[in-house]
Amino acid sequence: MKKILKSIIILVIFITIVVIVGLIVSNTFFKLDIPNISSEKLDFGNIIKDEEVTDNYEIYTQKIESKDFINLAVNSYIDNLVEEFKNNNLSDKKIIFSKDKAVFKQIIDTYKVNDDLVSVKITSIFKKNYQKNYTTKIYAYNFSNKDEIVITLDDLFKNGYKNIIPDNSYDSFLLKYNDIELYTGIYKKNVSYNSLLEYNASKKINAQNFNITQEEYENLFSNQIDKNKKMVAITFDDGPHATNTYKILDILDANNAKATFFMLGSNVLKNNNVVKSVYDRGNEIGIHTWNHKELTKLSSEQIKNEVDSTSDAIFNITGERPTLVRPPYGSVNSTVKSVLSNYTIVLWNIDSLDWKSRDEKKIVPLVMNDIKDGDIILLHDIHSTTIPAVEKIVKQLKEQDYELVTVSDMLEAKGYDTASTKLFYSARQ
Ligand code: NI
Repeated sequence: MKKILKSIIILVIFITIVVIVGLIVSNTFFKLDIPNISSEKLDFGNIIKDEEVTDNYEIYTQKIESKDFINLAVNSYIDNLVEEFKNNNLSDKKIIFSKDKAVFKQIIDTYKVNDDLVSVKITSIFKKNYQKNYTTKIYAYNFSNKDEIVITLDDLFKNGYKNIIPDNSYDSFLLKYNDIELYTGIYKKNVSYNSLLEYNASKKINAQNFNITQEEYENLFSNQIDKNKKMVAITFDDGPHATNTYKILDILDANNAKATFFMLGSNVLKNNNVVKSVYDRGNEIGIHTWNHKELTKLSSEQIKNEVDSTSDAIFNITGERPTLVRPPYGSVNSTVKSVLSNYTIVLWNIDSLDWKSRDEKKIVPLVMNDIKDGDIILLHDIHSTTIPAVEKIVKQLKEQDYELVTVSDMLEAKGYDTASTKLFYSARQ
């Protein structure tokens, strides 16, 4: 009897030790280092700028100066693109007008997923001799710092992940903090780590440690808008602003909301990084002219200059040309309409008068009192007093079950053909 009791006690002590050791080991080994700031981009290594200007072309490149295996992959990709660009633009003739020169611009973005994984995104924008339009190409590399190798999705996930990310659905991918961004040319699609949870094969990404809710995941995974839901488009004019616009982006992100920013070219020029953030975080950018001129008082050529110069400035940062224009003061006449026939003119039907009152107690009711499905709301991200109002408006709209979407997405969801209808106050039906 005593013997049996002794054995049981020894067994219990043994099991307890195994469990405790197990807990310690699992915590130490499986804990993933997560950066404190979500969605924050972390840089590593140095970026070296380079340029080559000849009679026939202009090349502006960036190269990375990090660990050798990273430099090798990224810099040889860039060298190949530059070589190809030069071969395509060899010309005996000297180019007279600089606008006819071939141009190659290239931007490097770096992301740190955790202590091990880092990613590099290379955006190349180029045009050939005598060409007017630019082409954009995005490619990305992902690296394991510890293993010093280029990472493939097969290294991270069990084979079944191909149900969600088929092989032919991307040319390259980028590991970001919350999700994987897939690229084909300039097209991108985001897939959250959570959706790949059951295929997680390695501890390099532990999807369980990323606190994404089911709702957030669904929003991330598909850019599809639920057409059955009520929706409105919030728009911000006159920016971007060096600090206010970021605060508004944070409010939007925290609420799964997207908005449209009608920017002034003069402010785009001063705030390149803000423009990039607005775009990268999935919002739409429209044109609000270069200098906030009243277009009805300008000649056709002046109108075209105001709009084209702003389009160029935005394009140089995002690689994408805006399709929407909001004329300052909402001033439109037949000349404006005909000059802007390639654009969609977007006015508004809900005016917050935020520029006038500078008071959230007045702004919020003005917006919310008569809000309906399909409305376009006018606000200004240059005024700091607009920020607390936006926070309340976004929260109340969400409580009333509205989707907050970009103007273009709303027009599309409501079935409007922007090729035939060229001016919108709202998408109310
Ligand atoms: Ni304005």
